[in-house]
Amino acid sequence: MVVDPDVLASHEVDWTGGFVGSTPAVVRPATTDQVAEVVRACRRDRIALVPQGGNTGLVGGGVPLAGEVVLSTRRLVGISDIDGDAGQLTAGAGETLAAVQSAAVRAGWRYGVDLAARDSATIGGTVATNAGGLRVLRHGATRRQVLGVEAVLGTGDVVSRLGGLVKDNTGYDLAGLLCGSEGTLGVVTRVRLALVPAAGPSVTALIGLATVGDAVALVGHLRRAVPALEAAELVLADGARLVADQTGVAPILDPVPPVQVVVEAVGPPDPTEALAAALDTAPGVTAVAVATEAARAAALWHVREAHTEAIARLGVPHKYDVTVPASRLARFVDEVPSVVADVDPTASIWVFGHLGDGNMHLNVTGAPSRAGSGGEAALDPIADAVLARVVADGGSISAEHGVGTAKRTWLLRDRSAGDIAAMRAIKAALDPDGIMNPNVLLAPD
Ligand code: FAD
Ligand code: MLT
Ligand code: ZN
Repeated sequence: MVVDPDVLASHEVDWTGGFVGSTPAVVRPATTDQVAEVVRACRRDRIALVPQGGNTGLVGGGVPLAGEVVLSTRRLVGISDIDGDAGQLTAGAGETLAAVQSAAVRAGWRYGVDLAARDSATIGGTVATNAGGLRVLRHGATRRQVLGVEAVLGTGDVVSRLGGLVKDNTGYDLAGLLCGSEGTLGVVTRVRLALVPAAGPSVTALIGLATVGDAVALVGHLRRAVPALEAAELVLADGARLVADQTGVAPILDPVPPVQVVVEAVGPPDPTEALAAALDTAPGVTAVAVATEAARAAALWHVREAHTEAIARLGVPHKYDVTVPASRLARFVDEVPSVVADVDPTASIWVFGHLGDGNMHLNVTGAPSRAGSGGEAALDPIADAVLARVVADGGSISAEHGVGTAKRTWLLRDRSAGDIAAMRAIKAALDPDGIMNPNVLLAPD
């Protein structure tokens, strides 16, 4: 157990700097049995716990905003039971996403999830948030990769099913339930993951367009024409200029087009010709840069991948992570700046994200900070306006980051009373004393 204030400090604030709490102690168990001991002791003494992995979460779910004890999972390491024929491995919850990706490649496979926080985000954190990222279009979000988990529930009981059976209809899908549970039902300690075939030749393209509507149509066209397409990411001109200003890297498409889409297709077989042919016949394309080798591909990705960091340099942003149905997406992106301006005309909005699955990241800077409020969405009038519009458009108020503390009051407007009652019943069964992340996802009664 760690109580040194200097060490505690790094566990008390989130990646954005917008969620700041305090904790009496950080516990750092190294095995599932040690996690179980901690949970049972906390249950006995009614002490609330916040599980914390890499602390890259963006919704205030992994920091102790109400004085909880932090259970750090970073010592739950080890990658084992690699099955090169089945394409599976088992990872400790504290392994980073990057470490799992490397282990998969060494085994002759690839892990299907990727995101810019890969070097710090833990595999347990990605399971707990059902992280999405850059390759959902082809491989799905984290839940699709998870074949089984080992976890300590809020009861103190251990559940473990790491056999890697692809077909296993023996009752409730506990792994699927824990995936996306944001530390509110238990602590994930190990995960059995399915891998995807190793990457063959790949091609990346940065494509300029005039409108978001053109970009939506382009993605539909490419999905039909290039089955190996696995990423399609949206960038707007003001975001591209911000990235150039903040990072000092000149834009690749210059003059900067109003809209850019980064796409990547991964073989085998080599998808380069299929992508080139599809782009030749694609409507609305005004400029294209193409890369088939890694360094140049990374350069094309830069304008998209550097968005989060570039925005963070402007101050603590209000972050909204939403999905909107494809049919309404272009209109939503075009109109959401005026929704924000109606609330706060001095604020700036930055829109980018995962166009292939309709997940847009809206970041608002220059608006009053929510620091000290615990990030409650109810206290955020911009959230009220933006998320109301998302719900009216049939979207989701949390696409991939989770609900955390930031969106929990909004959950009531997005999900039905029946849904919430079912979630509360599950919470009561698996965490009867409410010690697991009690301020996350479902606000306390
Ligand atoms: P933490 O931040 O430590 O925790 C997140 C939540 O999971 C908390 O509620 C915590 O209590 C819980 N938790 C953590 N570990 C466990 C465990 N072992 N058992 C139970 N509960 C646990 N997210 C995306 O989905 N897609 C992206 O593209 C993406 N890109 C990002 C880019 C950047 C630059 C940054 C900073 C973040 C990004 N994120 C993205 C958000 C973040 O990386 C993910 O949510 C990630 O899954 C969090 O992992 P973590 O280990 O840091 O979890
Ligand atoms: C991303 O896709 O880059 C992220 O989810 C991070 C963010 O929303 O800033
Ligand atoms: Zn994202």
